[in-house]
Amino acid sequence: MSDNLFALTGRVAVVTGGCGTLGGALASGLAAAEATVAVLDRRREAAECKAEEIRGSGGDAVAITADVLDEAQIRRARDELLASRGRVDILINAAGGHIERARSDARPVFDVPLDAFEEVLRLNLHGTVLPSLAFGEAMGRQGSGCIVCISSMAAVRVLSGVLGYSIAKAGIDNFTRWLAVDLARRYGEKLRVNAIAPGFFISAQNREVLLNPDGSRTARAQAILTHTPMGRFGEPRDVVGTVQWLCSDAAAFVTGVVIPVDGGFSAFGGV
Ligand SMILES: NC(=O)c1ccc[n+]([C@@H]2O[C@H](COP(=O)([O-])OP(=O)(O)OC[C@H]3O[C@@H](n4cnc5c(N)ncnc54)[C@H](OP(=O)(O)O)[C@@H]3O)[C@@H](O)[C@H]2O)c1
Repeated sequence: MSDNLFALTGRVAVVTGGCGTLGGALASGLAAAEATVAVLDRRREAAECKAEEIRGSGGDAVAITADVLDEAQIRRARDELLASRGRVDILINAAGGHIERARSDARPVFDVPLDAFEEVLRLNLHGTVLPSLAFGEAMGRQGSGCIVCISSMAAVRVLSGVLGYSIAKAGIDNFTRWLAVDLARRYGEKLRVNAIAPGFFISAQNREVLLNPDGSRTARAQAILTHTPMGRFGEPRDVVGTVQWLCSDAAAFVTGVVIPVDGGFSAFGGV
């Protein structure tokens, strides 16, 4: 164990959705903490570009192209990483997000097409479960490993218009606890599973919902900030410290928790 409890030196980390807003910040953050980072995303060029960016900043990174909903691709990605780097210590499940077609802000929820509901449910829930089982299996064989899932305020508070997303994120909270208990009992204390629940961050998937074309805030964005005691949106770097801590020896006795990183949104009753 390093003297620096928070160091990730020599650990091999996979970040799904590693080219996204939060996944990208986490990939860079874990590399800065001296982990080797596998940037896993469905777009090859974007994954290679992000890995190159990390290497350019002095970190160690490889690009992996895979769809988190394709079990064969995820297992292949895992096997490739094990063949090239010998182990996998950390999995961050950052692929996910809402999809526009599944929203019900401007229509009754009954009018959301079932396939849109299923798509957003699958992306967020299956897109976390499949990589966790594939990489978790390798961690079990290894006898150590750390998985971090990405939940949302939608898991515990009602956010209008996003039913499928909310159900998926609530499922992720449950899955995080379930897998934490199962892996610790089966493989011991060095297998840990936790989640963060980010508040509101402006990203590719929600920019149009939060910002008008002229850059001003939408009514939804204003309502979010009114209910966020810190009065601002999160910056992608705001999630890095919590995830680094969860992946490090400093969190050796922490498993099965979902930690809000939300500027106080989930604590506030609105009055
Ligand atoms: N932003 C927020 O305020 C917020 C708040 C709470 C929770 N979260 C959660 O945080 C996670 C990351 O969100 P974000 O805001 O960073 O979103 P983002 O910027 O849209 O990033 C998501 C990344 O995942 C990739 N991806 C999507 N589907 C994939 C698939 N099937 N296989 C592999 N990669 C896939 C995307 O690639 P493409 O570009 O090709 O789609 C993108 O690179 C999500 O789970 C989201 O629900 C976000």
